[in-house]
Amino acid sequence: MKNIKIAIIGGSGLSQLNGLKDIRREVGRTPYGDPSAPLTIGMQGENEIIFLPRHGLSHQIPPHQVNYRANIWVLKSMGVEQIYAVGATGSIDPALKPRDIVIPSQLIDYTYGREQTFYDGSNAMVEHIDFSHPYTEALRQRLIAAAGTLKASLHTKGVYAATQGPRLETAAEIDRIDRDGGTIVGMTGMPEAALARELEMQYALISLVVNPAAGRDGDAVISMQDIVAHLNAGMKDVCRIFEVMLSTPG
Ligand code: HPA
Repeated sequence: MKNIKIAIIGGSGLSQLNGLKDIRREVGRTPYGDPSAPLTIGMQGENEIIFLPRHGLSHQIPPHQVNYRANIWVLKSMGVEQIYAVGATGSIDPALKPRDIVIPSQLIDYTYGREQTFYDGSNAMVEHIDFSHPYTEALRQRLIAAAGTLKASLHTKGVYAATQGPRLETAAEIDRIDRDGGTIVGMTGMPEAALARELEMQYALISLVVNPAAGRDGDAVISMQDIVAHLNAGMKDVCRIFEVMLSTPG
């Protein structure tokens, strides 16, 4: 993995990435508007890492208002080839517990009203990308290998359901997603993955479970306090996984 430009897109609980050397900041501009934040650029081993917090530096941008096109475009314009995205999720499959790490293998998109393509007709091009396997297998395997060296409870497959937010789902919505085959649910995984594919960038997601999804913990109400506690503890594991992965020659 020498001299490849790698981007990490941080989600809730990960607005900053520690451990980078020779850090600089760059403000990116794109034809689609401003990315969520200035880019933090630094070295980890032999790789240049570009970090972008999806929700902004102070977590001020809700999932449905993230400028996904600007975020992906700016990374492409900087020569990024590989994107590792981070996302917090609720668990639908009862085998998945808070603080577990899931490296999803598939996704289902329930979002709406988001700018979801670069091929929107404005550039007089009609293009249909192949998206049968939305996550790049080689990147998934790198995450799995790194996570496997740590104590974190790891699930090497999963079906990520992307919902619109910002509200959480109803129990009936979660039952429907379950019937569809979804195993984890989050609000930011799409259209990000598809936009990366449109620009021919490799993309994988590392997901931290932070709550049982709606209706999956009896009558309990989903507690924001619990979510924040799991985010704070679990994102440390996610950072460790990146440190191990980026310092392992690939
Ligand atoms: N639903 C949607 N997004 C989420 C959840 C959830 O339960 N938990 C964390 N992100």
